[in-house]
Amino acid sequence: MDIHRYEYTKGRLFESEIPDQPMDLLKQWLEEAVGAGVTEPTAMCLSTVDEDGRPSARMVLLRGISASGLRFFTNYLSRKGSEIESNPHVALTFWWGALERQIRIEGQAVKISSEESDLYFYSRPLDSQIASAVSPQSQTLSSPSQIDEMFLAAKKEWGESVTRPEHWGGYDVSISRIEFWQGRPSRLHDRIVFEATEDGFLRSRIAP
Ligand SMILES: Cc1cc2nc3c(=O)[nH]c(=O)nc-3n(C[C@H](O)[C@H](O)[C@H](O)COP(=O)(O)O)c2cc1C
Repeated sequence: MDIHRYEYTKGRLFESEIPDQPMDLLKQWLEEAVGAGVTEPTAMCLSTVDEDGRPSARMVLLRGISASGLRFFTNYLSRKGSEIESNPHVALTFWWGALERQIRIEGQAVKISSEESDLYFYSRPLDSQIASAVSPQSQTLSSPSQIDEMFLAAKKEWGESVTRPEHWGGYDVSISRIEFWQGRPSRLHDRIVFEATEDGFLRSRIAP
């Protein structure tokens, strides 16, 4: 494998330019990632741990930012769902190469209400609704065509009337710690951390 040595030169992260609320900076960086034409700018790596403390990670899409945290949707019976059930502490990581930026978040995942999951589920294209409703996410399949057959059978049976299964819905991840990382030349990267306290977020700069 060739070793690539990339120099980060796109910007700086100065305290004087950072909003008091980390959510505001998160929104700003997301908008800038969209503006920079990043593929799937809302994609984030969700890390969970199983009951023995072993981590696993996968990408999910950010579908909302609220006072209660960062929202994503999935199958509650999936591997990630069962790991969150036994340990709600999770981490989320964004990486936008075009902007040389990373955001790392740590917090707890909490299921959102059925009503809110319904609102999102029924806003999706019909085929996506059917796919999420039929897929036994993370379970073993017997052949490459099995999931297509399940999808087509459900499409025929349900027509336009799909019901959100109880096991598919959203989580909100509260923020206990969030770090903004901006790449710099010679690996002297900027790192600004916000830690949640009873009096709001405490901000600090940490070494690269
Ligand atoms: C860019 C990207 C976005 C994804 N978004 C989601 C998502 O929002 N929800 C989801 O359940 N899976 C999403 N997936 C699929 C997951 O990465 C993963 O394969 C799936 O959720 C099963 O994970 P698990 O078996 O660890 O539970 C996405 C994958 C990629 C590459």
